[in-house]
Amino acid sequence: ESRAEALLAQPRPLIIAHRGFSEWAPENTLPAFALAIHAEADLVELDYHVTADGVPVVFHDYTLDRTSNAVAQWGGSDWQLEAQPAHVLTDLDAGGWFSSAYAGAKLPTLNESLDFIQGAGGVTLIERKAGSAADCAEIIHAKRLINDVVVQAFDWEFLAALHDAIPTQVLGALGPQKEWDGRKLAAAEKTLSPLWVERAAKSGVRVIGWNRHITAEAVAAAHARGLKIWVYTINELPAAKALLALGVDGIITNNPLRISRLRK
Ligand code: G3P
Repeated sequence: ESRAEALLAQPRPLIIAHRGFSEWAPENTLPAFALAIHAEADLVELDYHVTADGVPVVFHDYTLDRTSNAVAQWGGSDWQLEAQPAHVLTDLDAGGWFSSAYAGAKLPTLNESLDFIQGAGGVTLIERKAGSAADCAEIIHAKRLINDVVVQAFDWEFLAALHDAIPTQVLGALGPQKEWDGRKLAAAEKTLSPLWVERAAKSGVRVIGWNRHITAEAVAAAHARGLKIWVYTINELPAAKALLALGVDGIITNNPLRISRLRK
């Protein structure tokens, strides 16, 4: 059985390390992934973008400023990741901004991150920030990772296209959306409701990833359809406890060790 299917079959709530163990190590780096594996997180979440020369690399923001030494090295600001070739990006320091202990940690490629996490027996929750569904499907096929990983995205059209490309792949729909049908959504419309569950289900996903604004009716609607709900980004025990009491199936957290105390 595939790793992702095995996790979905677990009755216990899952603990998901957000950008790795990002409270203790720089987000989206191999050290953060290593700590998440040591902490026995069920999944290790990461984000990927695509470089100017077409290489998927692991990084959260669209600009390099916050979590690399790009500004310190090049001056200026607003350095766009997608404008740089891979060899420039993988030369950056993606750890020193977090602490001097992690200076020199590299900005990893998606390829090496998947080898690292999956090779350690982990399950990667891949969040696609940029890049086509065809290219994503190609990566999953080439690395023989169908359903040994989960793919999530805020872009539900991307998810529908990836679902068409690999119908058996476990996918997660992220929300809340900022707009729908070309209309900006009001705050109240951003709560996860049964309506959003129905919309997400149409993209062929098995998981909904949402922030803490969710209703009991949405949890019931998701479970009635066989969908799981994973909630981000929950770092405090009381909030995690309340959400688990509501029936959510997974907690996405910067500190998987702290949240895992709830399961003991
Ligand atoms: O895993 C869900 C969460 O990562 C979504 O928000 O901004 O961290 O990608 P963001």
